[in-house]
Amino acid sequence: MKAIVLEEHGNIDSLKIKNVDDPICQENEVIVKIKACSINHLDIFVRKGMPGHQINLPIIPGGDASGEVIQVGDNVDKSWIGKKVLIDPNVQLKSGRIGIMGEDTNGVLCEKVSVSPSRLIELNNTIDMFEAACLPIAYGAAWRMLIKRGKIQPGEQILILGASGGVGNAAIQIAKLNQCFIIAATSSKNNEQKLKEIGADVVINYSDKPDFHKIVRSMTGDGVDTAINFTGGDSWVKTLKCMKPNGKILTCGATAGFDPKTDIRFIWRKELNIIGSNSWNKEDIHSLVSELEKGTIKPIIHKIISFEKIAEAHKILESRQFFGKIIISL
Ligand SMILES: NC(=O)c1ccc[n+]([C@@H]2O[C@H](COP(=O)([O-])OP(=O)(O)OC[C@H]3O[C@@H](n4cnc5c(N)ncnc54)[C@H](OP(=O)(O)O)[C@@H]3O)[C@@H](O)[C@H]2O)c1
Repeated sequence: MKAIVLEEHGNIDSLKIKNVDDPICQENEVIVKIKACSINHLDIFVRKGMPGHQINLPIIPGGDASGEVIQVGDNVDKSWIGKKVLIDPNVQLKSGRIGIMGEDTNGVLCEKVSVSPSRLIELNNTIDMFEAACLPIAYGAAWRMLIKRGKIQPGEQILILGASGGVGNAAIQIAKLNQCFIIAATSSKNNEQKLKEIGADVVINYSDKPDFHKIVRSMTGDGVDTAINFTGGDSWVKTLKCMKPNGKILTCGATAGFDPKTDIRFIWRKELNIIGSNSWNKEDIHSLVSELEKGTIKPIIHKIISFEKIAEAHKILESRQFFGKIIISL
């Protein structure tokens, strides 16, 4: 089968399209024929390599995929055959730790994968397979961060940074579903109107106005209840300045840098709550699929690109000239 293979960390050229062996269906597993994959910022981190986190190479990258079950192992219920499914990228590693496909094990950027049926989420026939492929990592991480860790409440004022990407779009839709007042911040002028269309009440462009905290303060008086910051870097101290006393900052990543300068005076004076959030679980993905069925969550797709053009997908993601998710179609 064809697969994207990363043999060494590096630039976009390090992603190679290769022929590899088909997966073998073990007795407790199923084979899923992949229909659509969505690309995440994680795929860029995996390609480039991450300080302090070793990735065993070569690896087939990619964590998010929808597809169809085409084969089942001897111990698996045959009724799975022909079902449309989403794969939970979380995988139990031999060490006992939970890892992610495409980072800790081979991923989904290939024609077929072999997985345990316990990791499948069945999709009904009305669900768009491209939209479903957007959900697990970005929407799953946003669901856990806002609902489980952040316990957001109706009426809260929420600041969402990096709003144009996968997690950002998902956070806006989830906050809207929970009747929050949303201030979305983006670096892209082209995306301002689109952010309003998916639920932002106010949009701040921080490439025009890097001191976004001053705008947030002038708009809210004493600051926001909650901020979603997965950008880190220069945005961190400014986010501390955006907060109401006893406000909470939710973080699940550090796109612009994981070791930013901080100012802990804001944390103690305002008694801020800094809450980390990592990953999602299968129940979160089920909740998202059910919202997708109801039409209350609608993943935003920037572009669908053919498998052979994986380099273009990475190029768009790195350029920040996009809105929503980039899909690879097989
Ligand atoms: N812990 C977890 O389980 C988990 C799961 C999913 C994602 N994450 C993390 O969450 C972050 C977002 O992931 P994603 O897949 O949504 O990424 P993405 O689709 O690439 O979107 C990231 C957004 O952040 C902004 N951005 C990009 N590069 C930036 C930079 N250098 N400085 C400041 N802002 C930047 C851009 O928004 P604007 O164009 O609007 O400025 C971009 O659209 C990543 O750090 C990722 O690792 C963590």
